[in-house]
Amino acid sequence: MKIGIDKIGFHTPHLYVDMNNLAVARNVEPEKFTIGIGQEKMAVPPITQDPVTLAANAALEILDEEDKEKIDFVIFGTESGIDHSKSAGVYVHHLLGLDSHARTIEVKQACYGATAAIQMAKGHIALNPKSRVLVLGSDIARYGLNTSGEATQGAGAVALVISADPKIMALEDQSAYLTADIMDFWRPIYSDKAFVDGKFSNEQYILFFSKVWEAYKEKTDHGLKDFEAICYHLPYTKMGMKALKTILDEGTEEDKERLSANYKISADYNRNVGNIYTGSLYLSLLSLLEQKEDLEAGSRIGLYSYGSGAVGEFFTGILQPHYREYLHVEQHTKLFSSRTEVTVPEYEEIFEKTLPIDGSSLELDIEKDPANICLAGIKDNMRQYVNKLR
Ligand code: HMG
Repeated sequence: MKIGIDKIGFHTPHLYVDMNNLAVARNVEPEKFTIGIGQEKMAVPPITQDPVTLAANAALEILDEEDKEKIDFVIFGTESGIDHSKSAGVYVHHLLGLDSHARTIEVKQACYGATAAIQMAKGHIALNPKSRVLVLGSDIARYGLNTSGEATQGAGAVALVISADPKIMALEDQSAYLTADIMDFWRPIYSDKAFVDGKFSNEQYILFFSKVWEAYKEKTDHGLKDFEAICYHLPYTKMGMKALKTILDEGTEEDKERLSANYKISADYNRNVGNIYTGSLYLSLLSLLEQKEDLEAGSRIGLYSYGSGAVGEFFTGILQPHYREYLHVEQHTKLFSSRTEVTVPEYEEIFEKTLPIDGSSLELDIEKDPANICLAGIKDNMRQYVNKLR
């Protein structure tokens, strides 16, 4: 039985800051951010969007009535969850009106969370072939103003429906994974900003990639010739390119050209959104599928997932016949083209505006936020969510 990705949705906030302007404000050459880091625009989440609303908005655009009935497992991958106890998925389950006979949980392992969710979903479908699983990967990446990680922030979510006989991509069974206890990036429970050892995190990302790639090749006998493209977790777009470059010499000139060209396309959405942590790899996959129109069904795509701390995995999928008909290219083109640019001082003001943590209430103006699902405030320590379509 084939199991894999049946649908993919995506959402990012309607505001962004231009990386050239951020560079000027931080007294660095713009090329450092646009070429050295490889980012053009960075999504800026208004206070009316949080990981719950981003995920709910991403799922809203793909689910039909049949999905709502058949989804019996919601797995929410995040590392910027809003509650130490209650799963962010339960809010989304309610906001989307899913069938109550469902399991709902949150999973965490930095940017690896959504991949863990997908593997869990695959097992669930193998046991329950008629079910569908909603996997959500949603995060807001925050390092702080004037920090070295600032240029690698971002915000957004992906929503994936995992099912039998998937319409977009069948996931293959062989994969290679790795865990090691390292401190390259972490966020203690008392902090709303990440701590990072930037250079070390880059080295570990590449080391984990080389280890899982070698292990995968040993298990499968596959090599570069067997891949149409390899998509990466993209904390910033130069990072995946650095990892890809470490293996390009294993292939022919044709392999090099194909994989490098397809990498560029797969990094395009991420270049314009920033790091969305656990959804980042799937945003890269979406960028490739939606923007490379002549990618043939039957092509094998490699997927490298990395979550600091750290866990890495290399796995693969095969594109299904007519997969393009099931993508939401128009909606995503509109989502990108209708965004509003904010100045650096405006971005800084939005960044500093956070919800009260002393139990006081706050009502938010959701009219300025074009998203259908918004955070309308906080009352009695409870976040108040609104689905404007209801
Ligand atoms: P930095 O110290 O600001 O930058 O930190 P740099 O000095 O290393 O420069 C960056 C690149 O720009 C260099 O290129 C420079 O040469 C180049 P490289 O040597 O790397 O190829 N450069 C220029 N290029 C063109 N024109 C110029 C110019 N000037 C310089 N004028 C760093 C950069 C990414 C370390 C920092 O932003 C950071 O700490 N970010 C957060 C951590 C991170 O993203 N790590 C990635 C791997 S870990 C991961 O992916 C997991 C993660 O997503 C979290 C999770 O799992 O939850 C982060």
